[in-house]
Amino acid sequence: MVKRKLHEPLEERKGNLYFDGFSVKELADKYDTPLYLMSEKRIRDNYDRLYGAFVNNYKYVRIYYAAKANTNLNVLKILHSQGAYLDTVSPGEVFLALSAGYTPDRIMFTGTSVRNDELKMLADANITINIDSQSEMDRLLKISVPQILSVRVNPEVGAGHHDHCITAGPESKFGLWEEEVIQAYAIAQRARVGRFGIHMHIGSGVLEPEPYIAAVEKLLSIAKRVKKEVGINFEFIDIGGGLGVPYKPEDTELDVAAFSSKVVNLFKNKVKDYGLGKPFLFVEPGRYIVCDSTILLTRVNTLKVTPAHKYVGVDAGFNTLIRPTIYGSYHPILVANKLNEPEKETYSIAGPICESGDLLAKDRQLPEIQEGDLLAVLNAGAYGYSMSSQYNSRPRAAEVMIRAGKPVIVREREQLKDLMTNQRVQSDQ
Ligand code: LLP
Repeated sequence: MVKRKLHEPLEERKGNLYFDGFSVKELADKYDTPLYLMSEKRIRDNYDRLYGAFVNNYKYVRIYYAAKANTNLNVLKILHSQGAYLDTVSPGEVFLALSAGYTPDRIMFTGTSVRNDELKMLADANITINIDSQSEMDRLLKISVPQILSVRVNPEVGAGHHDHCITAGPESKFGLWEEEVIQAYAIAQRARVGRFGIHMHIGSGVLEPEPYIAAVEKLLSIAKRVKKEVGINFEFIDIGGGLGVPYKPEDTELDVAAFSSKVVNLFKNKVKDYGLGKPFLFVEPGRYIVCDSTILLTRVNTLKVTPAHKYVGVDAGFNTLIRPTIYGSYHPILVANKLNEPEKETYSIAGPICESGDLLAKDRQLPEIQEGDLLAVLNAGAYGYSMSSQYNSRPRAAEVMIRAGKPVIVREREQLKDLMTNQRVQSDQ
């Protein structure tokens, strides 16, 4: 029996997996594997649930979708139509945002190690910049004095599902520390920047409100000092993204209504106590919006038994989904054509990449698998395609979305000729 309770867009029909009402077997046969299969409806539902939870507690809220999680133009456009704003980290993401129809006033840039030519491009395009170092601000002010500026604060508390994904606290490269923050705003004000915001992002994959409570307290106490000592008002206060989703069977879902009421109540009380006016509250979720909107379909080609493990060889490896390899992340896996069969075998699921770390799962309990079976790797919508590569000279997978009720290709599968893009062959001397 299926141990995992399936939720939208997944459904079991006669032991087979359906996605937004479509048989994943038929989709895999039609579009081939590896295939990212995405649900427009789930993206919209996730956005609505999150926005609803926040706006219910505070009227002046904006959702800045963190584009890095999934930059498919259709995802960006769907969220645009929902009323989202965008958090970007590179000129490339700004380019995609503008191409998807976002006007500059709906785009924020929160980069790190930003080059001068990038700062110029952002300033020329009137994108709101969230600076990550005093060096970045000094260089920006020499290039252009922006109308609005924000500073990324290290609130001294970080959290996240893996060390690599903790983006605040003592070990983090991100943000400015309290005393530096005060100085940065004073310098910006002397340079005649007129409008201000303040920002933090503590990390990614956080399933409880506690770290946010501590970090929001610190952020607002710094905002209070800036207001008092520098004399500026904040138009927005950005508490970053990081809201987690359950991956492991034992993970509990984040109750966004409870989360938002805890965090927003604290925010409202402190903003009032500190006389910070009525700033917008910005939230920057990436994973929460897209993670469970997408599955990765991959076909079994090889079965191999070694003294230590039973290996199932599939056609998606860390070139297609790298999270299990670099973070040891657990992704739920279903045998899409055997949902009702008992999970009586223990398998390691290996990809086609020539490295031993190329495993989508280690020693996982699954139904008995045969060559030709179809596996569905769940929660593949966030940091899946966007972190994929052509390593081992494998063209990237295709993306299909159930959009307006029918399957459409939203990104073509790469072809062998794409492996030669930008290469220049020099003739032998
Ligand atoms: N805002 C900023 C400034 C960020 O750096 C990030 C993510 C977000 C928002 C969105 O975080 P989210 O809501 O998606 O957790 N590749 C890793 C995640 C890295 C996240 C980096 N920053 C993973 O696959 O788990």
